[in-house]
Amino acid sequence: MNKNIAIYPGSFDPPTNGHLDLIERGSKIFDELVVAILRNPDKDPLFNVSERVAMLEALTGHYSNVRVDTFDGLTVDYAVKVGASSVLRGIRALSDYEYELQMALMNRKLRPELETVFMMPAEKYSYVSSRLVREVAQLGGSVKGLVPELVEQNLRGKLDPAYKLAEFAPAREERSETRKSRARKKA
Ligand code: PNS
Repeated sequence: MNKNIAIYPGSFDPPTNGHLDLIERGSKIFDELVVAILRNPDKDPLFNVSERVAMLEALTGHYSNVRVDTFDGLTVDYAVKVGASSVLRGIRALSDYEYELQMALMNRKLRPELETVFMMPAEKYSYVSSRLVREVAQLGGSVKGLVPELVEQNLRGKLDPAYKLAEFAPAREERSETRKSRARKKA
């Protein structure tokens, strides 16, 4: 019997918990799921393609039916090349729908035999996007809980020292509170 193969295409710059939630859901309904990272020379990514491959491989290594690959050109051509019959995409909120519908219909026009399958990530990730994660981390905010720990560590490495400052800011405040309360006791 033919295997039911899907690709999950995207930029994954960086992978978020929303992406991983979708990969988990996709791995349950497809025989094989190929996480396909677009090699896009026009973009100026935070993580290069090899870094994104390494992160996604580490994060999905425990699924026997998930693999990570890269592609360029049309998504539909890549899907056909790997023998996929579906393209998996996530829809978080209504705002995603218009863009996703447009892409799905264009892909259908190009390759009518391919089906786009939409899945919803857990609602706790419904506001999480790679773009916002990059922005918050770049400006020194915490992205704990929104990305896997490995990604958080890699963001810290990339964006140091801004990210580190945010990371240690509460500890510094706590220390200064302790100093203040000691001073109050003395007075
Ligand atoms: O994670 P993203 O950035 O939302 O993913 C967008 C992606 C990679 C799925 C889309 O840009 C894409 O399919 N690009 C490949 C080129 C292509 O096929 N373009 C026509 C899409 S209708």
